[in-house]
Amino acid sequence: MSTQSPSKVDFAKVDEIIQSCGAKKSNVIAILQKVQATFRYLPEDALTYIGTKIEGLSPATVYGIATFYNQFSLNPKGKYEIKVCDGTACHVRGSMPLLNALKAKLNLKDGKFTTDDMLFSVDIVSCLGACGLSPVIVVNGKVHPKMTTDALNTVIDVLLQKERGE
Ligand code: FES
Repeated sequence: MSTQSPSKVDFAKVDEIIQSCGAKKSNVIAILQKVQATFRYLPEDALTYIGTKIEGLSPATVYGIATFYNQFSLNPKGKYEIKVCDGTACHVRGSMPLLNALKAKLNLKDGKFTTDDMLFSVDIVSCLGACGLSPVIVVNGKVHPKMTTDALNTVIDVLLQKERGE
């Protein structure tokens, strides 16, 4: 989704994660979860590294696992992950105008979904199971119900102020 190039991988950090989980084939999901929590995505270099470090795995196997599960992302994510629900209820109540307003606010153009400063990334997701609160967005796991463009701008402004230490 993002067109940004991956940042350099700290392999010492990956090693630390492998050791903490146990360098065993059966721990690969836990290892990938921790790597993603650390880097906020799964860098391809890290997948290759894990595939060569653990007996019984290969880079291709690790890559296959990383792409199979929805929980994993091979694209860099922002510090704040914003999910815009586009399930039926949210769509009918204006999720797409919200998404467009969000992209404009964050200056996300040309198919980019993560801001250059790596602060925000935007994903479109299907029904979050909170249709009565539609349209819904979720920021780092926190649900924001009945969103309007103004409310959304406020959410972003609050986060920007927090980042600037205001
Ligand atoms: S459609 Fe958005 S929460 Fe169900």
